[in-house]
Amino acid sequence: MNLRLAVFASGRGSNFQAILQAIAAQRLQAQVMVVLSNRAEAGVLQIAQVAQIPAVAIEEKRFTEFADYAHALLAQLTKHDVNFIALAGFMRKIPIEVVRQFRHRLVNIHPALLPSFGGKGMYGHRVHEAVLEYGCKVSGATVHFVDEEYDSGPPILQRCVPVLNDDTPETLAARVLAIEHQIYPEALQLFAENRIRVEGRRVKILEGNF
Ligand code: GAR
Repeated sequence: MNLRLAVFASGRGSNFQAILQAIAAQRLQAQVMVVLSNRAEAGVLQIAQVAQIPAVAIEEKRFTEFADYAHALLAQLTKHDVNFIALAGFMRKIPIEVVRQFRHRLVNIHPALLPSFGGKGMYGHRVHEAVLEYGCKVSGATVHFVDEEYDSGPPILQRCVPVLNDDTPETLAARVLAIEHQIYPEALQLFAENRIRVEGRRVKILEGNF
């Protein structure tokens, strides 16, 4: 599949940067067509500008009707000829119209091993605090399909990291983030190589070079 990506992000954009680096290093065959953010001041927009990639802030609060917000997102996706969406720290629910139009071509990265420590309100440092509070011995990252609910679509790739005795939410977040930067480009490359098969909730990864 020829990946023409939209990256949706709300924050600093380190996963977006990891995607750009993987493309530059030819570990990922894809093109980022547009970056969309729900926050005009998000750092990710600056990264996009430096990389000369179209970057657009679409703030939900500017729309009185949610349907108009959804249409504004879809209009950008059409305008930039996007065929695949990667959420990278996007802290808003994706409108159902977008989910339906991009079913199985819309993925997210989550900083824990789903289905643990996911769902509404579970993002960023809260995830790592909850993992430590529970006393888990491992955590990790999950790339998963996005469906109509929070963090509930089938996992595509997961990788573990250990939780260490003296971890704080910050040290654990940093260890997980390093793994996120590995598995997100890897997962996208599997789509580029047509190696993903979805059977119900099971996402099967086909062998390469077939
Ligand atoms: C990442 O850790 C990502 O997994 C998380 O937000 C961070 C964004 O960082 N996403 C979620 O928590 C989604 N529930 P980044 O802007 O540096 O890529």
